[in-house]
Amino acid sequence: MRVLFASSEVFPLVKTGGLADVSGALPAALIEAGQDVRVLLPGYAGAMAKAENKQPAGSLGDPLGVGAEARLVSATLPGSGVPVWLIDCPELYDRDGGPYQDANGFDYEDNALRFGLLSWTAAHLCTEGSPLAWRPDVLHCHDWQSGLAPAYLKAWNVVDRPATVFTIHNIAYQGQFPPDTVSRLGLPWDMYTMAGLEYWNTLSFLKAGLVYSDRLTTVSPRYAKEIQSAPFGCGMEGVLASRAADLTGFLNGADYGVWNPADDAYIPHKYQPADFVAGKAANKAAVQAELGLAQDPEAPLLVIVSRLNDLKGMDLVLSVMPAILQQGCQLAVLGAGDHSLEDGFQAVAAVNPSQVAVSIGYSEPLAHKLMAGGDMLLMPSRFEPCGLTQLYAFRYGTIPVVHVTGGLADTVVDTTYDGLMTATATGFAFEHANAGAFQWTIERALDTFRQKDPWRKVQSSCVCQDFSWNRSAERYIALYRALAG
Ligand code: ADP
Ligand code: GLC
Repeated sequence: MRVLFASSEVFPLVKTGGLADVSGALPAALIEAGQDVRVLLPGYAGAMAKAENKQPAGSLGDPLGVGAEARLVSATLPGSGVPVWLIDCPELYDRDGGPYQDANGFDYEDNALRFGLLSWTAAHLCTEGSPLAWRPDVLHCHDWQSGLAPAYLKAWNVVDRPATVFTIHNIAYQGQFPPDTVSRLGLPWDMYTMAGLEYWNTLSFLKAGLVYSDRLTTVSPRYAKEIQSAPFGCGMEGVLASRAADLTGFLNGADYGVWNPADDAYIPHKYQPADFVAGKAANKAAVQAELGLAQDPEAPLLVIVSRLNDLKGMDLVLSVMPAILQQGCQLAVLGAGDHSLEDGFQAVAAVNPSQVAVSIGYSEPLAHKLMAGGDMLLMPSRFEPCGLTQLYAFRYGTIPVVHVTGGLADTVVDTTYDGLMTATATGFAFEHANAGAFQWTIERALDTFRQKDPWRKVQSSCVCQDFSWNRSAERYIALYRALAG
């Protein structure tokens, strides 16, 4: 089966979150299972620099009238060798800042064109006009940035088109633009209706993906149900409920080639997951030293590796800080996001430097060190489509403390008496996203932490969890087969 992925982020070329991890690791698992998968992404400057085996692969012309020719470049992903195509168009993609926002955190004004071109190219590669001989059986789009691709196929009336699958990684991000974007992107006005591209007087890339794709998936079974009602659907619940028969939730996997303490180039003390005690202690001491925290093996080290926003429940963390610091905890935060939350965390760290360390920004090495050195990973997300960091934490013997939602509900088993006795408990979970419930759950975790045996028992269950990608890959392959023979 030939499958074309279209995604705005692919690890290790460009990453702001879990979408990149999935777009890098799932194709590798599908290829391993015998499928012919290629990934299309924008040729951001950083991605172009990191991609290996680059070759020109043909011209795309200037379909959206940006005043410059776009060219396709074929390449491979470092590490896995997964084949990719980058859209080389420096006018749109060679920018200071991230994939979506400038260095000051503002969305680029021409994001409709930048991701319109990604969508247009994904669709174009499925037609006779493609500069490539390779044609997909399935076009698999991810999140709003590639949502217009199925709409282009519909608009062009492509008869012999591939099957289309659209995966929702996070429904809160929708890609809405003013109505005149419709003609700017060469789409016909008769598709700008309530049953099509229009959403509250805007053009919605996400809605286009939801309406015009053959099948919809999301990244956990629980989230697939949640988004069919408010508030989880973020306004798309009606559209999704009408497509309930075509919507499935497949849990994401963890790439143990990247996230494995036995073989992690970023951590100072490697250890086998099954033999974590000494290794974790050494990594914890190293984190405390690197971040200037008190060198105290007994102080519970709580870690966060996350985008900093209210969806991730980071305001709840700030609310419970006084109480958890009073309990003698240490907190190490790595993240970036809302400036008010960044300032809030930095202010707490300034007053309590031996207990709180805050690193604002993006750091792959520190993310790995915190996974290895932490005792608990805090994830009080209000919504969490899947969440990957809790899966990584498991493998390092770091116990997640989570709100029961989306993929967190599907992957973390609360430490109840039964959970402990049956060795199924893998974390601490709370039902209601409020500071009181979160604080009480951290305190419950701290009680267990202080009694070393049950804590070790939960850690032992965590490290045994297997969320390898091959299981999810089989589910996607079955879906592709059902659609495209
Ligand atoms: P989301 O995609 O919603 O951000 P996930 O848990 O699915 O959440 O994935 C987050 C990914 O991004 C993980 O690989 C995590 O390690 C990484 N990550 C998040 N913030 C940072 C950061 N500041 N530095 C390094 N990696 C980060
Ligand atoms: C999104 C979600 C996250 C999920 C990731 C990969 O960014 O917020 O929960 O794990 O996509 O699917």
